[in-house]
Amino acid sequence: MCGIIGYVGDGAAAPILVKALGNLECRGHDSAGIATINDGKLCVEKDVGKLDQVCETHSLDGLPGNIGIGHVRWATHGDVTQVNAHPHSDCKMQIAVVHNGIVENYQELRTRLESKHVFVSQTDTEVIPHLIEEYMDAGASLEEAVLKASKELKGCYAFAAVCVKEPDKIVATRRESPLVVGASAHRSFVASDALAFLEETNRVAFLEDGEMVVLGKNVTFLDKDGQPVKKEFKEVDWKWDQASKQGFDFYMMKEIMDEPQAIRRATMQDKKLVLEMAIGILRSRQVVITACGSSRYAALVGRYLFSRLSGQFYNVIMASEFQYFSDSIDNNTLVIALSRSGETADVIQGVKRAKDNGATVYSMVNTVGSSLARMSDKVLYLNCGPEMGVATTKTFVAQLALFHLLSFTMANKLDDGVQQLLDICPKIDGCLSKNSKKLQGLAQQTRDKNDFYYIARGINFAVAAEGALKMKVTSYVHAEGMSAGELKHGTLALIEKDTPVIVICPQDRTYEETISNAHETKARGAFVIGVSEKMHPIFDEWIEIPEVDEVFQPLVTVVPLQLLAYYSALARGRDPDKPRNLAKSVSVK
Ligand code: F6R
Repeated sequence: MCGIIGYVGDGAAAPILVKALGNLECRGHDSAGIATINDGKLCVEKDVGKLDQVCETHSLDGLPGNIGIGHVRWATHGDVTQVNAHPHSDCKMQIAVVHNGIVENYQELRTRLESKHVFVSQTDTEVIPHLIEEYMDAGASLEEAVLKASKELKGCYAFAAVCVKEPDKIVATRRESPLVVGASAHRSFVASDALAFLEETNRVAFLEDGEMVVLGKNVTFLDKDGQPVKKEFKEVDWKWDQASKQGFDFYMMKEIMDEPQAIRRATMQDKKLVLEMAIGILRSRQVVITACGSSRYAALVGRYLFSRLSGQFYNVIMASEFQYFSDSIDNNTLVIALSRSGETADVIQGVKRAKDNGATVYSMVNTVGSSLARMSDKVLYLNCGPEMGVATTKTFVAQLALFHLLSFTMANKLDDGVQQLLDICPKIDGCLSKNSKKLQGLAQQTRDKNDFYYIARGINFAVAAEGALKMKVTSYVHAEGMSAGELKHGTLALIEKDTPVIVICPQDRTYEETISNAHETKARGAFVIGVSEKMHPIFDEWIEIPEVDEVFQPLVTVVPLQLLAYYSALARGRDPDKPRNLAKSVSVK
């Protein structure tokens, strides 16, 4: 949540910062702003709205100077207003700060500082420049002041600061919020995500909690006591063009179209590692899978795969609830954490507790070098390349593919699993091209509907939930996904004439019962959209999916649901890439 960027180096900083903020906008798009230093003066422009809108009304990229910081906001404390937009400054307009996270003790700090400092915003962030000001007035350098200020902050943060008194440097630090440093020959960056500067450099170094970086002529890393620390720069294997729209109107569509390729890339794993992880899972006395949102739905599918292929039951716990079960996590527990970003605060917090209790941690992550990856004993990377749309699409199918790899390995059939995954890719391509037009029409037809129900059984139950989540995220309508069997225990009361009910019913052992549940909705007037290999008379509309083995069905059933959500967003005039109130990386609790 919130994206921060700092740049120092050759050429004007502002256009570089604006471009970087465009790449971070999936982390927040409530407001945007940048601050540069030029001729001993701080120049700040910021306002509410998406980056494009702010650029139209303020000359963000025209600010002078070759050093600066920038921010895209996802509001936590304080309304979405211009004064609450970042960067925030001290009383004398000499210091500017951009921040991602939450300063939990900001009220206490503000009360203490208010006798000497003038606050203009309602944000938690504003205490940071005033704290830095306090320490610099007492003679500290910018890095000493940042170090002292950060020791007073409770909560999670990653922030970058500049000061006109030391105009050639940016100082940045973090605790529990991500911060990555990038460096090329004459340009240095610090950002919430390497995506921000990937076009310039893929040489990165990650900051650990409490560490600080000083970007200037050189890049210097300091530990939590302010002592120099050596860090290796590594190359991330992400190409800049993977993060562009490549001719599509929206990232979401491009990323749905990328799904067959995402599955292929997910199969490219170190076999020895997959085997070690599969053995680890089979040998563990207790396995708990944890994740949030779409990643959790992928985990629910994974649970079916594990139990189907290894005959054992595994638990999935929502990461935000994980801490309440931590008493039952011990050194006999294996925690499998899923997170596309690898920075989701609820997941990180749960994993920390589990590690404190002695658990082993495996993870499935897309972002190389992310916090979750660094905390894990073993990591399987999704290998999908960047996913820029806020709505998870290709990373969901890549997570499913990893579960397939692990579960087939548990059954000693890894090569067979890989081959079957590869065979499914052209079928997904076919499913995409076959259904696009029809789903576009359906999205138009249902554009005045505000309640959608998704039902399925067995391995597709979690896909129903994922389909509903996609519809909510992109189209801002009420959508519920549930086990078809659960419908008559309450939700059936909500079905009325023409309520869209999406029935996911491949022709497997769940088919008859799911069709029977579809009849129950039809009897109450539902408009039934069937997702199946064959037409059934109960369907008012039929979305055809290819025939695949039951364990692979979620890979094909989820695709039309993602497309329906995408086209519904367009039919309602929404921006599917930047849904209101949401951000891609949920790095606050
Ligand atoms: C929905 C969506 C979210 C994420 C969730 C977890 O489309 O994208 O529900 O799945 O915030 O994010 P990660 O996987 O990064 O931990």
